[in-house]
Order: sequence, then structure tokens, then C-alpha cells
Amino acid sequence: MKDSSAPAPAHAAPGAGHETVLVLDFGSQYTQLIARRVREQHVYCRILPCDAPLESIRALAPRAIILSGGPASVWAGGSPRCDGGVFELGVPLLGLCYGMQLLCGEMGGSVAPATHREFGRAALHVDRADGLLDGLPESTDVWMSHGDRVESLPPDFEVVAHTDSAPYAAVRHVSSPIYGLQFHPEVAHTPRGRDILHNFLFHVAGLSGDWVMSTWVEEAVANIREQVGDAHVACGLSGGVDSAVVAELVHRAIGDRLTCIFVDNGLLRAGEAAMVEETFTGHFGPGLVVARAGDRFLDKLAGVTEPERKRKIIGHEFIAVFRSEVTHVDGLRFLAQGTLYPDVIESVSAFGGPSATIKTHHNVGGLPAELGFDLVEPLRDLFKDEVREIGAELGLPEAITWRHPFPGPGLAIRCLGEVTRERLDVLRQADVILLEEVDAAGLTRALWQCFCVILPVKTVGVMGDERTYESVCAIRAVTSEDAMTADWAQLPDGLLRRISNRIINEVRGINRVVLDISSKPPATIEWE
Ligand code: XMP
Repeated sequence: MKDSSAPAPAHAAPGAGHETVLVLDFGSQYTQLIARRVREQHVYCRILPCDAPLESIRALAPRAIILSGGPASVWAGGSPRCDGGVFELGVPLLGLCYGMQLLCGEMGGSVAPATHREFGRAALHVDRADGLLDGLPESTDVWMSHGDRVESLPPDFEVVAHTDSAPYAAVRHVSSPIYGLQFHPEVAHTPRGRDILHNFLFHVAGLSGDWVMSTWVEEAVANIREQVGDAHVACGLSGGVDSAVVAELVHRAIGDRLTCIFVDNGLLRAGEAAMVEETFTGHFGPGLVVARAGDRFLDKLAGVTEPERKRKIIGHEFIAVFRSEVTHVDGLRFLAQGTLYPDVIESVSAFGGPSATIKTHHNVGGLPAELGFDLVEPLRDLFKDEVREIGAELGLPEAITWRHPFPGPGLAIRCLGEVTRERLDVLRQADVILLEEVDAAGLTRALWQCFCVILPVKTVGVMGDERTYESVCAIRAVTSEDAMTADWAQLPDGLLRRISNRIINEVRGINRVVLDISSKPPATIEWE
């Protein structure tokens, strides 16, 4: 992953001035995860493409650099590399998997294809439980995923841990703070991975952990004030945590020069419009504009069943409604948006070139550049869990900070087939039951998203002595770190039984409940 070429905001990023750890991305699927793991330990972390020029690396003044894994072979021609100057910066280095092989190769060791590729769990035998491996037991599980391995160590390197098939599973320079790990400490399957990264950050690199959310808020507010000057700002509220946090930050920065616009598109969950209005009316007062545009959206959607057409119609209407609302705001120069770090970084392909992974359809519910406003994007540097932490820091209610992500096209893409008021109503009733039960089971926070989908098929059932012929409702519950990948969640049997019973008994129009057990990829989280 790398910082995208999208223009960065002119004002200083809230991360500036903090101890920074840099991750150089060689195309690993885990690169974002490495950054998240570092930030979890209160150390600010940025990702740059592996071939970033040395000057841009120097400009970040990184206090440590982590070389990510990647799918390529170090010995293959054209494999991704970083500027050789990285190895001479004198900052602590940690190479992971491909990053370790590159580091060892660059420093005079040799790398070759392993006789058999090693994927999955392995037992790491710790030979030196100090420095990077301080406090680790003699043996601990680690997650391996590699085809090549280091065959001979560079001069002045020594082994600190091995596995049965990898003699050089963890290595280090004898006198400089340079380490290499053949395995992935960033994944959950390496149970002591957090400790290893902790050791690297605090013992090896001597960092203090100064990335704390309370100071972030102060800096973000000051940055917004500086960027906006005495102009006015509009912000689209969606009911989700990102836009709520943005609105609150901008409000703290410029008070009533902020106008929040909430478009009720008729595709929201039960009670959502009322909740947003209630939560924000008192707060932003006259600065909150509610556009009740449900009829307009639903009329345009009549008879439409094709998912992409639905998305296009909704996106188009949203922009039209928003545009007509902002024309009333005097002195408007800026739009505040909840763009997050994962939206800003792009994957690096196996051989160094960028490969966009951001789906265009995710912009539905977003606003185009043609509106002609400058953007205020205070969350550009943050991951979702950090935004939730800031929401709590700002005193936003839990109902907002822990709300599951909700797509811009709303229930329209969960109402497969035609979107009618009646079908939306049935879907809303089922969804409320699901969310109530999941919440009562204390599982809301453990799930990334959990929702009902109404299918465009009817099935036969029997209720009392009556034959029924009604719709099928699917339950989608997933766990995820960032929505790029997701696992279907294993909800307890008793909970599933309660949800199914209640939906079938309480919701008229549904006589069958099914469970979606597909992971992403190859399925997506939403059904359309
Ligand atoms: P998929 O379905 O592609 O979705 O696995 C990944 C995440 O993105 C959300 N999503 C959207 N969010 N506008 C949005 O703001 C959209 O058009 C959109 N489509 C999907 C989805 O809910 C999940 O969290």
C-alpha cells in the first residue's frame, strides 16, 4: 500500500511532529495491518511505496523503518526494491518476510527458493530471548508465508530464533539495530507478535509512544482552523461515525460557520433519521439542515432491479439534493469529508507498480470534485478504530461511535430486486430485530457489520394451518479489520435461533431466514 497520489491537504497532517515509524510496502496483503499494529502501541505510522525516493523518506524523519513482506522473489529479475540509502540511514530496521530477505540480500547474505514453501503455523524456537524477542518463551507459534528463505547470513549477523524448517527465522545485526523476521508478527496467528513489535518500537528503537488521541484532537482542530480561515464549511452527515466525528471537529474549530447537511434518502435503517436529528439538532442548532428527500429517491428507483443502476440513481440524486441545499449557504468554500487512511493508500502490485483496490462504487454517497469546493479531510490519516476512539474522546454517544458502517446507497442494496416502500419496511423490521438481539448478546462491537438482506424470491411455508408464500431474509454478519477482507461471523446457535424465530414470527412478509456463510473475497460484504 502506498500514500495515493491524490493531492494531500495543504495544511499539516495531524501526525506531523510525532515520532514516526515508516512502513515500506513491498506488496504484502498485511501492510495496512503492520501500520495498525504499530499505531495500536501509540506510535504514529505511515506507509510509503517501497520505491519511494530517499528524500521523501528522509522528509518524514522516521525513527524506525519496517520493510513489509511481499509476494515477489528477491532473486527474481525486476523484484521490488527500495533505495539502497535506506540501509544507511542509521535508523532501526525491521524486515518482515520478503523485507527480511531483501535486507539480508542487500547486506551481503544470500537468498534462495526454499525446498518446500512454508505456509501456516510453525513453532519458533527462541535462541536469544532479548532485544526484539525479549520476554518470549522458549517456543511460541508464528505465522509463516514464504517461498524463499535466507540461505546464508550477511557478515555480522546472528540467528536469534529458528524453526524446524527455517534455520534463520529471526536474525539480527550484532551491533546495529537491524532485525529480520521470516514470519509475520503483525497477524493474529502469531500470538506473541504484539510483544515482538512492542520490543522493536520501545526497546530497539527507543520510542516513547506519543501518538495519543487527546493531543490528536487539539492538533486537528487547530489545523482545521488554519486551513479554513474565516470561510464557511459544509459537511454531509450520514449517521455514521466518520461524518459525525468530522462534523464535531469542524464545529469545535469554527463553530457556527459549519452547516451540516443530512439527506434522508428514504433508504435509512429504522429510526436512523430521527436519531441523527435528535443527536445533532441541539448540538449544531440552526447549522443542521435536514433534507427530507425519501420520495424523490424512491420514485426514481421504481421498477429498477439492476444493482449498478440503483447505485447510479442514488449517487446522482444525492449530489443533486446536496447541491441544492448548499446553494443557500453564504461564504461556502469548503466541504468537510470523512475520508480515512485506507481510502488514501493504494496497494502496490507484486512488482512495485500501483494497483488500485478502491472500488469506484464506494463513492456512492460521496461528493464529486466538480462541486468546486476545497476539501477538509481531518481523518485522512486515521484507521476506523482510531476514528471510534476519537469519537469517544469527543463525547459522541456510543450509538454513533459503535454504529456499524452503512453504505451510501443504504437499504437499496440490501433489498434485492425492486426497492419499494413495502419491501423496505419489511427489511427494516427484520433488521431491527437482528440488531437488537446481537446487541443484547453483547456482540455489536465484535462484528464489523451485521444486517438483513431481503431476497427477491418467495418460498412456501406453513403458519398455524395456513400455507404462506413469502420472502426470504438473509442474515449477513462479518468480522473484519477494514472491509477489504472479511470472515463470516460464527454467531452462537441460540442467538441465531432467537433471531430466526423472532423475524419469522414478528415480521409479516418473511417466512424463511437463511444465513450467509461467505467470506470476502470472493463474496463481498454487501449483496449488491
Ligand atoms: P463490499 O460490499 O464491497 O463493501 O465488501 C465493503 C464496505 O463498503 C461498504 N460499502 C459502501 N460504502 N458507499 C459507501 O459509503 C457505497 O456505495 C458502498 N458500497 C459498499 C460496505 O457496507 C462495507 O462496509
